[in-house]
Amino acid sequence: MQTKPKHTFGGSWTEIKLDAISDYLNFYQNALKNHKFETWYVDAFAGTGERHAKILKGDIFQAAPLEEVEEVLAGSAKRALEINLPFAHYWFSEQRPSRVKALEALREEYDSDIVICQGDANEQLNKLFSSPPWASHRNSWKQRAVVFLDPYGMSVGFDTLKMLAETKRADVWYLFPRKAVIQQLANKSSGIDADKRASLTRIFGCEDWEERFYLTQPIQGNLFTDSITPESLRMANGDQIASFARERFREIFDFVSDPIPLLIKGHEFFELYCFSNNPAAIRLIKRGVGHVVKKYTPASRRKSFL
Ligand SMILES: C[S@@+](CC[C@H](N)C(=O)[O-])C[C@H]1O[C@@H](n2cnc3c(N)ncnc32)[C@H](O)[C@@H]1O
Repeated sequence: MQTKPKHTFGGSWTEIKLDAISDYLNFYQNALKNHKFETWYVDAFAGTGERHAKILKGDIFQAAPLEEVEEVLAGSAKRALEINLPFAHYWFSEQRPSRVKALEALREEYDSDIVICQGDANEQLNKLFSSPPWASHRNSWKQRAVVFLDPYGMSVGFDTLKMLAETKRADVWYLFPRKAVIQQLANKSSGIDADKRASLTRIFGCEDWEERFYLTQPIQGNLFTDSITPESLRMANGDQIASFARERFREIFDFVSDPIPLLIKGHEFFELYCFSNNPAAIRLIKRGVGHVVKKYTPASRRKSFL
């Protein structure tokens, strides 16, 4: 028998993120249950369906020693499969072949309609939303999705968000990698190499970031060279960089939620957003998302040191 690959990732912030998504999935399915829509749960960075995590167990008040134990918890795919009112379709994509195999094994455990794709999430999402039944199909109008974008780093292209916005039928939960983005932005713009430059342009979907974050200042040469070399220095702090990202999202989505900050050891690593571009449902979506953001934002700050 083949052993399942272990997918070890995350911490207390991961459970907050997954709880927030699960709450929204329940809200969404309840809200749409009496409509004629076909609902999809689309998980583009699906992992294996499980999460191996080290958990502190024990209770000093009951004289049980504190110890670190490894637990297998449900990941996003499994949680979505287990909600009370299941989606009509589940669509998972994952880049690593061993994780795709684990998802295929998971499929055997459920009766649901589950499609699994291997490859880059951006490409696979493009294929899904440009093919029937999402496009060129008599039932295209019926399709509705919650899309979860849960990358480790800067893997989601702005073009992918734009494509999802243009469907007008997908609510998108996006784990924006705030810390990774800030780390690419060196103090001097000369410190950003071509690869970093390209990934920043890809995540923001424009080249304006450089002008917004950096200021060119002449630096006085010394007595001997007497040349003046202009140097471009980063003026924007983390909050200004994150708010530029938010501005970019607002250019393509009518609704951009306040982000749930996900902190690790007190530092803001990620921001979890919900976006939507579905004018008919915007009030309902705002209500559901607002409830989730309000519920999990304080928990996220409280638990950030665990
Ligand atoms: C944070 S994990 C996702 C965890 C998952 N949502 C869960 O809760 O179990 C990110 C996953 O994305 C996969 N991945 C990384 N880059 C990818 C890409 N460009 N396209 C698709 N999957 C990718 C990784 O192999 C990893 O399994």
